[in-house]
Amino acid sequence: MDRYAIRGGASLFGEVQIGGAKNAALAILAAAVMTNDPVRIENVPDVTDCNVLLKAMERLGVSVERPDRHSVIIDGSKIDSCIVDDEYLKRIRASYYLVGALLGKNRRAEVPLPGGCNIGVRAIDQHIKGFSALGAKVRIVHGAISAEAAELRGAHIFLDKVSVGATINIMMAAALASGKTIIENAAKEPHVVDLANFLNSCGANIKGAGTDVIRIKGVERLHGTEYCIIPDQIEAGTYMMASAACHGDVMIRGVIPKHLECITAKLCEIGCHITEYDDAVRVSAPDPLMSTQVKTLPYPGFPTDMQPQITVALGLAQGTSIVTEGIFENRFKYVDELIRMGASIKVEGNMAVISGVKSYSGASITVPDLRAGAALVIAALAAEGDTVIEDTRFIERGYEDFEIKLKGLGANIERVSTERDLRKARLKLA
Ligand code: EPZ
Repeated sequence: MDRYAIRGGASLFGEVQIGGAKNAALAILAAAVMTNDPVRIENVPDVTDCNVLLKAMERLGVSVERPDRHSVIIDGSKIDSCIVDDEYLKRIRASYYLVGALLGKNRRAEVPLPGGCNIGVRAIDQHIKGFSALGAKVRIVHGAISAEAAELRGAHIFLDKVSVGATINIMMAAALASGKTIIENAAKEPHVVDLANFLNSCGANIKGAGTDVIRIKGVERLHGTEYCIIPDQIEAGTYMMASAACHGDVMIRGVIPKHLECITAKLCEIGCHITEYDDAVRVSAPDPLMSTQVKTLPYPGFPTDMQPQITVALGLAQGTSIVTEGIFENRFKYVDELIRMGASIKVEGNMAVISGVKSYSGASITVPDLRAGAALVIAALAAEGDTVIEDTRFIERGYEDFEIKLKGLGANIERVSTERDLRKARLKLA
């Protein structure tokens, strides 16, 4: 089990290059099995969640080639099963995208349901509602979701709750259904649009992605394509927040600034300076940070996946801030660890009331989930003294080369495997 050894206090300066969006990649990799032609996907991030999904796809009979670190060629013509039975895959939520993809292509899918989740209940009722409306018989059997249909027919589906996963899953199945599907109250996240663009480049007929009404005319088959995944909004936002919390000056390259507006707006409010370029944003924070109020909402609102990172920054801002979690009910688990680093935060229900402190102090920290892990690394970088982040695995699910990119910005961070490495790292960081 690797750990990060961090010596806080260094400001972050320089440039960082952002990779492909993990959550777009998960949807697009799964959707790539829907055609029998080869599909080449570029800008796939080398992160555990994507690698686990690709391994599971190989076990289904999908051929997966990686000509280089960020390119994947997928050939789904030889899929020999619609039943995904992979212990490891149960740990990644996005495994359920294979239901939409396989149901669309082969009219049948069985995929294990992910187990307990550290950020709150992750219901799937809207996925089931969508598949059923398209004519599938959906059951939960032995811990798996099973969907089967003699025929998939387009339908008018009104989602009761804005759900990224349900929108993506229904879009995939409906792309190969007969007739027209309308998804109302659809999610508008950039990765929903990216999946629609990918499917359209394979011959699907999807309109309206990025608005709350998506219209899909089913087609008989999809064909091969070459496609490049969009930049990761949350990876970029994480480095933006790191620059803010550490009073740095960082150029974040390879981004779509429009996708970052919800984050940029909050950083401006708390006193950061932001300059937007065509495909970069520069974030500097020469002055003390100021308090604000944040509520997480579906896109284009402030993303729940940035909630822990902004909470860490606001913990160091002057005055009292309020962060309200509007998507998941249990996404403040990391606050106990932040309090151990000296933060002054009270959580009541889905709301955190934050009284800014002058600084955090280093501690030995455990990480409850991916984004909280990244946020706690930011806290450690801003803290006085040394921090050990006990397990890097959560962070590696969604951040490629996290410590390498941070080191490039001047952070004192080492990844260590053994006690001996940890002692050596402490000497090196001293
Ligand atoms: C996606 O999860 C992302 N995952 C999450 O990113 C992200 O936090 C989340 O969207 C919200 O933006 C991927 O894209 C792989 P939802 P998803 O369905 O699709 C409720 C990260 O850190 N709901 O939009 O599972 C649900 O309980 C991860 O990268 C239902 O009630 O999220 C939640 O409260 C973590 N019924 C809300 O909707 C349903 O059928 C939003 O969930 C589905 C969801």
